[in-house]
Amino acid sequence: DASDTEKGMYPFYMLKEIDEQPAVLRRLAQTYVTEDGQTTIDDALLTHMSQSDRIYVVACGTSYNAGWATKHAIETMTGIPVELHVSSEVGYRLPMLSKHPFFIFLTQSGETADSRQVLVKVNELNLPALTITNVAGSTLSREATYTLLLHAGPEIAVASTKAYTAQVTLMNLLGKALGMKLDRQEARDFDIVHELGLAANAMDTIINEKEVIDQAMAQLLETTRNAFYIGRGADYYVAMEAALKLKEISYIQTEGFAAGELKHGTIALIEEGTPVFGLITDTLTGPHTRGNLKEVESRGANTFVIASEALAKESDQLVMANVHEFLTPLVTVVPTQLIAYYASLHRGYDVDKPRNLAKAVTVE
Ligand code: G6P
Repeated sequence: DASDTEKGMYPFYMLKEIDEQPAVLRRLAQTYVTEDGQTTIDDALLTHMSQSDRIYVVACGTSYNAGWATKHAIETMTGIPVELHVSSEVGYRLPMLSKHPFFIFLTQSGETADSRQVLVKVNELNLPALTITNVAGSTLSREATYTLLLHAGPEIAVASTKAYTAQVTLMNLLGKALGMKLDRQEARDFDIVHELGLAANAMDTIINEKEVIDQAMAQLLETTRNAFYIGRGADYYVAMEAALKLKEISYIQTEGFAAGELKHGTIALIEEGTPVFGLITDTLTGPHTRGNLKEVESRGANTFVIASEALAKESDQLVMANVHEFLTPLVTVVPTQLIAYYASLHRGYDVDKPRNLAKAVTVE
């Protein structure tokens, strides 16, 4: 067993942190929802947000991908449009603002300079901001109007895993609380504690199958130069995170792509044996992604499918339990984290300390 800051029986922190994710989900549900189903999120924050006409989510790296993975859920539950921005792109010129903008900074460390630069500008304009972070007392937490903590425990591996799933979870909890505050049916319909429990169980099942994931998918990445993750909707957002994870620790050039957009140029890169992972959990779009997998297969790609039960086929490499559509990213991302972990391991790299990268980037 391992404490918060020790690896214990684990060869790398990353594997330990992947394993901790179901517990982090359960902890967040307990922290932010009382036994009688009331939110513990500060009412002043919810009131402030309920008066907003547009939410601007600002983040970098994995935190930015976590923002995308929750846009649909928040918009559906609250009726407020959500915009995503990469910090370094809006640090010099803020995006065009609505009448009543509300900013959310997603940051594991709470110290990312690019994100802080945007917060400084937001504060100069006296606009409200919420920082969602894993580190109490961090710079972005201190400088924002409001803070919500991820309670994921220290994340030590450079490649972020449990912070991503904690961010996706907490954004959903916030969306639910805000939607309830706004008296929206879409929020009432989402039994978040129950659904998070199911998602945590689905994660557990995948984690228990890690050897299968290694053998069926990761081992084949030992010598490849490039790879693709494709999906549509929620699966596209997870594809972006899956690609980032694989490239940052295995150094395989990987692109996460909107499955339908591949044919408009990028498909030219598919060669004999190019690995293409299809993520298929979205009932609206899953069949179309399958069509796109056929297209790359006929051009020589080596395809792998990670699908939810409702959309699965016999030949799929990994089948995951169905979960609520708002929460599918929590489950789908786990096999992709494991694929990245094992690919890095087989290629002989230091999984926890990839070259050229830092855990918190405090320079512009
Ligand atoms: C660094 C880390 C990434 C992280 C990004 C944003 O580049 O290597 O894993 O996603 O910073 O970090 P933050 O702490 O703001 O979430």
